[in-house]
Order: sequence, then C-alpha cells, then structure tokens
Amino acid sequence: MTHLIDLNEISLSDFNLIYHLTIQIMNNPKNFNKSCSGKILASLFFEPSTRTNMSFNAAMIRLGGNIIGFNDPSVSSTAKGESLKDTIIMMSTYSDVIVLRSKYEGAAKAASLYSSVPVINAGDGGHLHPTQTLVDAITMLILRGHIDNMIIGICGDLKYGRTVHSLIKFLSRYKNIKIYLISSESLKLPIYIKDYINQYKKNISFIETKSLDDVIHKLDILYMTRIQRERFDNEEKNYDDYCLTSDKLLNAKKDLIIMHPLPRVDEISDDIDNDERAAYFQQAKIGMYVRMALLMKLINTKKELEIKYTDINNKNNIKCTNLKCITYQEKLYQNNIINNCIFCDNKLIF
Ligand code: NCD
Repeated sequence: MTHLIDLNEISLSDFNLIYHLTIQIMNNPKNFNKSCSGKILASLFFEPSTRTNMSFNAAMIRLGGNIIGFNDPSVSSTAKGESLKDTIIMMSTYSDVIVLRSKYEGAAKAASLYSSVPVINAGDGGHLHPTQTLVDAITMLILRGHIDNMIIGICGDLKYGRTVHSLIKFLSRYKNIKIYLISSESLKLPIYIKDYINQYKKNISFIETKSLDDVIHKLDILYMTRIQRERFDNEEKNYDDYCLTSDKLLNAKKDLIIMHPLPRVDEISDDIDNDERAAYFQQAKIGMYVRMALLMKLINTKKELEIKYTDINNKNNIKCTNLKCITYQEKLYQNNIINNCIFCDNKLIF
C-alpha cells in the first residue's frame, strides 16, 4: 500500500491490518505516542473540513509527528495560479505524507503521480472519500462485528455524496449486502457507481426508492447524508430534504445503527442524539484512531516513490465527460485502452 486514493485499491488484508491496529491504538493510545516521531504530515485542504482535517492533525500529533499545511487555499500559492502538480512536487519534498482535499474529481489520483511520498485522498469533489469509508467500515465492525449479511439504507444526496460512493464501492467486497438507495430523483446514485457494483452482483444488490418510511423497518444500518448544495449543477432544483425524526424511528429495528459522516444540517433531528441507536458521534471519534492507524501504516512502510509526471508518452486528446474532473485543470493524459477516466471514473469521449 503506497497511497490511499480509492479504498478498493488496497487489499482486504491491508484493510484488516488497519482495523486491528485501530483497535490496539484505541485500547492503549499512549503506546503509540512516538510511532511517527520526527515525521511530517502535509495537510492540504482546498475545501472546508472540520472532522477530516482535525482528526488527521490530532492523529499525527498523538503519534508524535508534526503538521504543516493550510485549510484556506487563499493563503497558498494556488491563489497565485500555481498548478496542483507544482504544489505537490514541492510539498512532497517537505513532508513524509500528504493529505489532500480538493474540489476537483480525480485530484488525489493526479497528486499521487507527482508525489514522492504517500498521498491520502481526503475527498476529491463529489467523487470519493476513502478515509471516511475506512472509518465507516471500522465503525460497523466495532459495533456489529461483521459487514457481511447486512441490509443498509443510504439516504440523502447519493449523487454528490462522495462518502456514499466510496462506501458503496467498498461494500461490494463483502457478501450478501442489500442496499436501499433512498433519494430524490435528481440526487440518485451516478451511473458509473452503479456500473461498478453491477460487476459484483453476487455480493451486493440495490433497490432505489424515494421513501425512507417504506424501508426503515428493514434496515440494520441507516447511513444519512447531507445534501451537497455546494456541488449542484442546475438540474437539481427539485429534491426532497430527508429528515430522520423520532417518530420515523418507531418502526425501526431496536438494534439499528444510525450513521452519518457529519456535518449534519437537518438530516437527523437533535432529539435522536440520545437514542442508543445513534452512532454518528462515536463514528467521528473512532475516525481519529483509524487515521492514526492509517498514518502509521503509510509512513512506516514508505519507500521512495517514483514521480510519474502523468504518462507523458501517452499524449492523446481523449476527454472526460465529467467537467469537474481534474483533467480540465491540469495537463493529464488518459489511458486509451479503458473506457473510463483513470482520475474520476466517469466515461471518456474518444
Ligand atoms: C463529508 C465530506 O466532506 O464529504 N464530511 C466528512 O468528511 N466527514 C460529508 C459532507 O460534507 O457532507
């Protein structure tokens, strides 16, 4: 494991290693307070964040390491027009690991080509958010002991919710997973994620619905998400706001687990915070320990990485159908053998 761009690029044995390390750290955090001593994390947040940014920072400090970086891109040289490529080449000479959040889809993959140190994708636009999925999956394992054989409702913004995309892809690795995709018509799961999970039909099935009330009684896990208004194009004007209230929970299973990557706006009413099924604050707390385990794994197995400068020999004019793709910002070239963008997974135009 060299970078973490898409969780499905890491093996299940690496995932299990991070899970077991997380448990060890949670049980005895002091044992790890020198595990990254003398190491530097470069934290590059080009989009707002509270939990992901702060839990990575807290994780690095608790491991005895240091942090450089910014969470306001207007103070970085990007504001002067510097490319992602130049920023990453430089930051990877100053640090041992890079955590990147960008509004451009595929930016973390592009950064991994320029970097001589491991790159962690902390969210690339509406595409993926693999460290949140690590947190979500490990929370499920801690609370339930397994991920197989579960009925999971995912509700809210399935179109732009990057946590949803990463989670659904990851779940396709497990057995007998049934997913209810609960959203308005205009915020349904993108085709490229459906195409992906359709390859794993024997593991995972999904049903799309607009009604949370119709399915809530069937669920083992309910994963609520925020409507990502900041990413809207024009066609999403008509959508429903889903709000989980106590009366909706009357029909739910007694051992339902309610998750949310947070921040919450109106998706879960405050009175549910005291319901023992509410797991979202615990999920966020587990996040810091998961990120400690991830940083230890990446930094301590680090080898000098080759900077690829994006496959210059493969210059071509193949374009991505996704205008939010990093390929519209940087000089990057597609692989002309596959049909999907190597950066953001959307279809290519040949
Ligand atoms: C999510 C994100 O940034 O995608 N938050 C997080 O990282 N925990 C979800 C969101 O912003 O709604």
